[in-house]
Amino acid sequence: MRSGTRTAAVVVAFILVLAALVGCGSSSTDTGTGGTEAVPGTGTGVVGDGAALVDSKCTTCHNLERVDSATKDLAGWQATITRMVQQNGAVITPEEQSAIALYLSNR
Ligand code: HEC
Repeated sequence: MRSGTRTAAVVVAFILVLAALVGCGSSSTDTGTGGTEAVPGTGTGVVGDGAALVDSKCTTCHNLERVDSATKDLAGWQATITRMVQQNGAVITPEEQSAIALYLSNR
């Protein structure tokens, strides 16, 4: 069961990075230079829109009610989403899982 701890650490690290990015706020509007901003494709695969992700990724097996009626903290959602992936067979990338967990625990 030690590998679980390791995985959790990686997930937490990811969440922290995401939280930092989200915390920096209005993603593309505050970079100063104004005007032509290239797509912020930093290659980190950050997916910002948790609501849209939940809509598209979490409704294939059950409806949104199932998600909406649950209240969990970040760790709770991480555990739930991990279960959706590992046990129930959901296809969601680690980046998306982090974004979804963040979104659901903060809504
Ligand atoms: C591949 C199918 C599948 C996908 C995709 C899926 N789920 Fe589930 N989900 C299930 C099944 C099956 C159950 C009932 C068994 C269980 O709880 O593991 C369930 C139950 C739940 C529950 C109720 C149980 C609990 O722990 O509160 C929640 C909440 C939930 N899913 C959230 C999500 C979220 C959020 C997503 C998207 C990230 C998602 N699910 C995507 C199959 C799926």
